[in-house]
Amino acid sequence: MKLLSTLLVACGLMTTSMAYAAVDADAAQALLKKSDCFKCHAVDKKKDGPSYKEVAKKYAGKADAEDKLYKHVTTGPMVELDGKKEEHKKIKSTDAAEIKNAVAWILSAK
Ligand code: HEC
Repeated sequence: MKLLSTLLVACGLMTTSMAYAAVDADAAQALLKKSDCFKCHAVDKKKDGPSYKEVAKKYAGKADAEDKLYKHVTTGPMVELDGKKEEHKKIKSTDAAEIKNAVAWILSAK
């Protein structure tokens, strides 16, 4: 009986941690690569745009982080590049789950 409850607890823990580790890093990077995002962004150094690490830090603990970035990468807001206003690149996908995965990956950059 004791063994059975230990097993049940272990299974419960496994499903919980899997739910939190749902970001598919490979898929996220593949999509960002396809969308030319790495031309202006790197994970840990500043290029024309801020590093993803910096973005993750800026949004750490903010409840609306995912929404804000989702809009940022899908609506093409104006950003400043070399002193000129330019429309920010849009992500090359219309699949909400795929885009959310990429945003979650950016927010988990460290
Ligand atoms: C031509 C250069 C360029 C490309 C290409 C580019 N970005 Fe950016 N990105 C920028 C700049 C510049 C900023 C800073 C905007 C600001 O802070 O006003 C930025 C900001 C961001 C931010 C932070 C937004 C915020 O609210 O702080 C994210 C996230 C981001 N970009 C993701 C992406 C993704 C995803 C792609 C690919 C679809 C991409 N970028 C492609 C230049 C670029």
